[in-house]
Amino acid sequence: MSSNRILIIDFGGQYNQLIARRVRECGVYSEIKGFESVSLDEIRAFDPKGIIFTGGPQSAYGEGAPSIDDGIFELGVPVLGICYGAQLMAFRLGGKIESAPTSEYGRTEVAVTGKDGILRAADDSNVCWMSHTDYISEPPAGFTVTAHTDDCPVAAMEDASRGFYAVQFHPEVNHTEHGAEFIREFVLGVCKCDQDWKMDSFAEKQIAAVREKVGDGRVLLALSGGVDSSVVAALLAKAVGPQLTCVFVDHGLMRKNEADEVEAIFGTEGDFDLNFVRVNAAERYYAKLAGVTDPERKRKIIGEEFIRVFEEESKKIGAVDFLAQGTIYPDIIESGLGKSAVIKSHHNVGGLPDYVDFKEIIEPLRMLFKDEVRQLGRELGLPEYLVSRQPFPGPGLGVRIIGEVTAEKVRIVQDADAIYREEIDKAGLAGSISQYYAALTNMQTVGVMGDFRTYDYAIALRAVITSDFMTAVAAEIPWEVLQRVMTRIVNEVDHVNRVFYDLTSKPPGTVEME
Ligand code: XMP
Repeated sequence: MSSNRILIIDFGGQYNQLIARRVRECGVYSEIKGFESVSLDEIRAFDPKGIIFTGGPQSAYGEGAPSIDDGIFELGVPVLGICYGAQLMAFRLGGKIESAPTSEYGRTEVAVTGKDGILRAADDSNVCWMSHTDYISEPPAGFTVTAHTDDCPVAAMEDASRGFYAVQFHPEVNHTEHGAEFIREFVLGVCKCDQDWKMDSFAEKQIAAVREKVGDGRVLLALSGGVDSSVVAALLAKAVGPQLTCVFVDHGLMRKNEADEVEAIFGTEGDFDLNFVRVNAAERYYAKLAGVTDPERKRKIIGEEFIRVFEEESKKIGAVDFLAQGTIYPDIIESGLGKSAVIKSHHNVGGLPDYVDFKEIIEPLRMLFKDEVRQLGRELGLPEYLVSRQPFPGPGLGVRIIGEVTAEKVRIVQDADAIYREEIDKAGLAGSISQYYAALTNMQTVGVMGDFRTYDYAIALRAVITSDFMTAVAAEIPWEVLQRVMTRIVNEVDHVNRVFYDLTSKPPGTVEME
């Protein structure tokens, strides 16, 4: 009996993880293996119901081009080739690959002529995402061309009798219309996979994998209370709870009540069996931040202090074998984007490995996207308010208090932010806004309250809509909701007499104020 999974063979393309994601969205388990590290015997042992060849940067006919044992085409397993994978399939099976007279990049109209196979859902003229300099000039014997463009004679081809399909474009990216449906048709229609992959099976597998890797070793995790590190904590607790120590540094720059909530979940009263260390470092942070107004210096101080506190704590704990991290897939793509200008020195636990003594890193979430991490968190029994939490910057409220940070200002911004959150929730808007918060401007203005002159702070409310946080627009919050928030903040939060709403998009603004 086949194992009901798809094997993705990686030839070095940039969207490979997206392919895995699309397959998983069909409810089918998939694994990515590098072409150089997987032999035919291993493929047989893996027993996939279907195989996908990914894109890649090389020429299929070039010297030393990534390739694969031709025996793969004799296994009786359907194969889908994407971009480089399509060319490789064509080349190995006797077709012709050449450098294309005109390369195609980005949005391209593809004329679809054969919809019996995986292109069932396609429009006659279907917008697809292309990225290639070579092309298939002649398909191998037995193949029918099912799509072409003005510049590419074989944009898709198939040999349905052997279950071989190839597309020159990238069905895995969102820009390709119906792309996800093409992959779905391959996985469910051609390979006939059952839809049995769910987060609970991912959790089970990861728990087993962590147990095997860790053995009786000791694991250390810097728990921030954000979604990713919390899900790692829950997962590791289930796998190797008593061997795990979570260090939670309360830098005094969390949202209102958040530090206590983290302790309630992971501390001794919580449901997880692990060693939880809370370090109350607020005073220490405020002392370091006293008099500092430059945003980058503030960020650096908060980041460095975190490392120092964490280092001290880990010394108390003693030698550990593994350092766990909540790295998720987008972190990996983003860090792979090359060198761009430093807009903000982002702070997360990525800097830790240099400072703490350990043998190996474990990153159980590195294959998951954010929404999958949230789903896994639910599966592991974390409360909804935690798993659906919005992104929160590593330096916390430190970058939402413009200018110098003091304990008093932290209290003001925490209270204002809690009111804003509560009202957005009550208005049923929380799910439709990507990120929102109250910030404390470094501005005092004159006001009047109960016949007295006031000279107090102004709060700025921010709310943005974005899919990737690289660009964003301000959310259109109904006027009456903003009015209610304003009234409550000026009435309930001492030393605030004015409230602004930030209309700025990103760019030119950023999501955070500093
Ligand atoms: P910006 O302000 O750069 O924010 O437009 C984009 C997204 O990143 C979050 N952010 C951070 N996240 N460490 C983080 O882990 C940081 O130092 C940091 N700074 C900003 C921000 O909340 C938004 O979601």
